[in-house]
Amino acid sequence: KLLTFSLLSLAVAATAAQARNDDQLRIGVDVPYEPMEYRTPDGELTGFDIELGNALCAEMKKQCEWVVQSWDGIVPGLMARKYDAIMSSMTINDKRREKVLFSEPYFTPPSAWFAPSTTELDEATDASLDGMTIGVQRGTLQDNYATDMYGDVADINRYSTADDMVLDMEAERLDIVFLDYPVGQSTLLESDSRDYQVVGEMITEPKQYFGDGFGIAFRQRDRDLAEQFNQALETLKDNGTYDKIKARYFDD
Ligand code: ARG
Repeated sequence: KLLTFSLLSLAVAATAAQARNDDQLRIGVDVPYEPMEYRTPDGELTGFDIELGNALCAEMKKQCEWVVQSWDGIVPGLMARKYDAIMSSMTINDKRREKVLFSEPYFTPPSAWFAPSTTELDEATDASLDGMTIGVQRGTLQDNYATDMYGDVADINRYSTADDMVLDMEAERLDIVFLDYPVGQSTLLESDSRDYQVVGEMITEPKQYFGDGFGIAFRQRDRDLAEQFNQALETLKDNGTYDKIKARYFDD
């Protein structure tokens, strides 16, 4: 009898621990990637992803903890269970779908080329980029695209963080960079030190690179977790929270 009782209380305790764990969630993010994820002067994480992520967690009644992780290790970190989700402006595309499970897209910005205003350049082409030095963040879809399209004619400088790249741009060590548009807009177009321009059109194709918007990534087997995020996202879109957060970072 005693044995049955202690086994039972063990089971109860285990269930309680399980429930506690289910309420907690760690999310991997690479910073800075302003205005999506960055730190305030006090060192606090902020940005569109961070605020939206926190609102999703509140909606799901989960306690979320952000885990800062470099971009090139961000998928391995998920697999190694350093965290259970990635929310880091990660574009959903087929290549990544082979490794991770994505939520529905929560934001769909284009990519764009940014250069100093003094550079005479109307369009990014094989001919116009010939001999130029292009900056990209290593392992991003912008890296993949620029390398495949212009790797033969231009020099590609790959940076482990987006702000190292922006610093090199400011220091005139780069001719042009390729970035998610909102990040170039916030870090370059709004820069005080130099004037920058967008070169050519906004880029959203081909889908094989530019995919289907930013998604939250999970381990393939965590379907329930992904579904919880999708439902919470829908709720925040319906009740106006999503738009409120978006308006704090973007004009349109
Ligand atoms: N959207 C691009 C991609 O998925 C770049 C994302 C980089 N994110 C970051 N937090 N540094 O490849």
